[in-house]
Amino acid sequence: MSDQERTTPIAKISLAEKFAAIHDQWNPRVVGELNGQQVKLVKLRGAFVWHHHEQEDELFLVHRGSFRMEFRDRTIELAPGDILIVPRGVEHRPVADAEVEVLLFEPATTLNTGNLVNERTVRHPHHL
Ligand code: NI
Repeated sequence: MSDQERTTPIAKISLAEKFAAIHDQWNPRVVGELNGQQVKLVKLRGAFVWHHHEQEDELFLVHRGSFRMEFRDRTIELAPGDILIVPRGVEHRPVADAEVEVLLFEPATTLNTGNLVNERTVRHPHHL
């Protein structure tokens, strides 16, 4: 690819710096895009809503803190450095007892609340 074709400059992304600029929860920010997928950063605290995604698999990577992903039949605890992939169609609910920093990797079409649209839906996440 030539420089003229490139839409995004090549530059490293500091997760620590990006997370330091986020001061709310459940509000994903886009920090990178590739191949129709987005890299998003989000801080979580408390319990989200049960939902699933019809078309998209979601990847969660814990940066700092911990949380648990609840499924209808079990719960998976996640610590820093852990990755969890939630397949499309599977109901899930993230719950964080204390604030946790999470990286998401998923298609740009992915809505945070999946099949639901409510006050927690972020239709167009901001870029950071
Ligand atoms: Ni989800």
